[in-house]
Amino acid sequence: MAFTVAIDGPAAAGKGTISKAVAARFGFAHLDTGLLYRAVGAKVGDGAEAIAAAKSLSTDDLVRDDLRTLAAGQAASKVAAIPEVRAALVEFQRRFARQDGGAVLDGRDIGTVICPEAAVKLFVTASAEVRARRRWLELGGEAADQPYEAVLAEVKERDERDMNRSDAPLRPATDALILDTSELSIDEAVARAVAAIEAARA
Ligand code: DC
Repeated sequence: MAFTVAIDGPAAAGKGTISKAVAARFGFAHLDTGLLYRAVGAKVGDGAEAIAAAKSLSTDDLVRDDLRTLAAGQAASKVAAIPEVRAALVEFQRRFARQDGGAVLDGRDIGTVICPEAAVKLFVTASAEVRARRRWLELGGEAADQPYEAVLAEVKERDERDMNRSDAPLRPATDALILDTSELSIDEAVARAVAAIEAARA
């Protein structure tokens, strides 16, 4: 039977880590929907080209090894503001969510637009400073190409664009559980997500 978990929130809040842990724990399939927008952004610039790229997106496009960079995140955030790009990606995400055995989807609009009927909705967040520090450490910390301040500026710019676009802006669903991970360890954050899912399955 389909059982959908929607995990939304801003960049580097811990959505990916929590989603992977929850998927492993419950045997759910996992879709990182940010990857869809990153793949579209990586294929093109803006505008009409992006719409064509979204319509013809294939799973091969999702395995490029340059999709995790800061630049790919910015390109994703830009094409994600184009309504026709978002529309072209809806059906694939909804089909994924409906599969037998359960699914966890993480993104920005899963609980609000893609799966408003999801059994569990989490909105995972943290302060911009905490998120930027985590992303900077992931990129290598002192050895990273960018200083912390540049990563912080990038995080804030992407938040701003994702929250203020007209189509499917980043915001918690009214029935989402807000999980602020600023002061939580990974294990604590995962434990809270697991508890919310267990409560919904009981
Ligand atoms: O989760 P991420 O950092 O990989 O997402 C990259 C960008 O893609 C993000 O800044 C906005 C966009 N995105 C979106 O608009 N809707 C989603 N469901 C997932 C990502």
